[in-house]
Amino acid sequence: MQYFVTTDALASQATDCLVVAVYQDGEMSPAAAQLDEDTRGAVQRVIDGGDITGKPGQTLFLHHLDGIESPRILLLGIGKKGKTTENDFNTATTAMAQALNESGAQSAVCCLAEIELGSRSGAWKVRQTALNTETALYRYTHTKSENKPIEKPLNTLSFVGEETDTAAFGQAVDQGAAIGRGMNLARELGNLPGNICTPTYLAEQAVSLGERFDSVTTTVLDEAQMEELGMGSLLSVSRGSREPAKLMTMEYKGGGDAKPVVLVGKGLTFDAGGISLKPAPGMDEMKYDMCGSASVFGTIQTVAELGLPINVVGVVPSSENLPDGDANKPGDIVTSMAGKTIEILNTDAEGRLILCDALTYSERFDPDTVIDIATLTGAVIVALGSVTTGLMANNQTLADSLIKAGNDSYDRTWQLPIWDDYQQQLDSNFADMANVGGKEAGSVTAGCFLSRFTEKFNWAHLDIAGTAWNSGKAKGATGRPVPLLVQFLLNKIEAQG
Ligand code: BES
Ligand code: MN
Ligand code: ZN
Repeated sequence: MQYFVTTDALASQATDCLVVAVYQDGEMSPAAAQLDEDTRGAVQRVIDGGDITGKPGQTLFLHHLDGIESPRILLLGIGKKGKTTENDFNTATTAMAQALNESGAQSAVCCLAEIELGSRSGAWKVRQTALNTETALYRYTHTKSENKPIEKPLNTLSFVGEETDTAAFGQAVDQGAAIGRGMNLARELGNLPGNICTPTYLAEQAVSLGERFDSVTTTVLDEAQMEELGMGSLLSVSRGSREPAKLMTMEYKGGGDAKPVVLVGKGLTFDAGGISLKPAPGMDEMKYDMCGSASVFGTIQTVAELGLPINVVGVVPSSENLPDGDANKPGDIVTSMAGKTIEILNTDAEGRLILCDALTYSERFDPDTVIDIATLTGAVIVALGSVTTGLMANNQTLADSLIKAGNDSYDRTWQLPIWDDYQQQLDSNFADMANVGGKEAGSVTAGCFLSRFTEKFNWAHLDIAGTAWNSGKAKGATGRPVPLLVQFLLNKIEAQG
């Protein structure tokens, strides 16, 4: 997809389709009203006829109208005037992209920056539309034997703005499209089945990112090298699997000598629970247990595409968690890279076992900030559902920045406490700590466990178990929290001036 910004009048646009919004209750957006005038009332007539009510995501094509150059108009429902929400806007622009892609129109010009949307700027709406267009056109095809490509897919989308908007809108389309593509990379990796997307496969993806971008340097550690580093906790999870574990680092350099932001992504390519085996229903969804790592790949790709002036390191510990004669057993005690011993009371709490060694490993990058992203606990879904990502941090300024980035990008996060009061739940009679903290506050005690390996740096933990994928009929990875992470980096760059 290519994106442009245009200042030309709608009626004279040489494009396959013009997209304008219609509000609920039949009101027209300014651009729709302009087209209505250009076409001698064609828009008002279909509104009067009840063909479109303005419900968010509703679409109606009008063809070959006198008075305008374009052979098509797409009327897009955008919700109640002045009350359009971000969700309405996302629904509408996603529907727009899908409708255009299937309409035969290969190019389109849209007028959506003018929609009233709380305090969101025109550039925000342009960015979000580009992002939603990229993600709307993603199709999973990798393991389908029949893939009918669309004959005339949408390939060009332009945004109408004033002369004074062009610079901001231009940057907005670049960012939105790059974030959308980053999300699609994360979705694709998430959607791939566990027998294709193995730790070795993820390592190949890391190598390929390094090959695609001069600014990205990838290294892959194998089990022998991890053994050398003393990563006894991570390796204990991998021992129950025939797929060798990998630890990838992707170093993006765009910020000179500045300390990097380190993103650590859980890369469990399949989590059966190990000897503490999970129940069968829905277990297929544990192929998504590498979505934290997928968001790191997506973020690194986005940052590299945009060439952002910042240093970012992606660290991905990757393993399977399976039951096996050599797997961890409840009661086993392992020694982490930090030297702390861990009593494994539940082999299904494996994410923290691989993350703790990856977090210790992150110290070597002398980080400004470390953020881990993990599908860590079912409990976070109980607490927050699939709307928002759970956030825990050892530094409130960092937590506040992530909350702000979540609101800015509308890929939101909500903080949970990791107060000392909870730490005692991890007490063990036989090791420095247990890997589980009982049934109360499961997401918090998981965060508390990680906090014991992050004392040397500013750290935040994002539990994305509820937000990384959708279940049910629309089963599929969401690409979250790539928008949140990229926004965090963009805000950080802006703050540094
Ligand atoms: N990958 C799971 C967490 C998970 C569960 C994510 C369901 C999404 C949906 C993680 O490894 C896990 O199994 N966590 C356990 C921890 C428990 C044993 C303390 C859980 O949440 O049940
Ligand atoms: Mn598990
Ligand atoms: Zn897991």
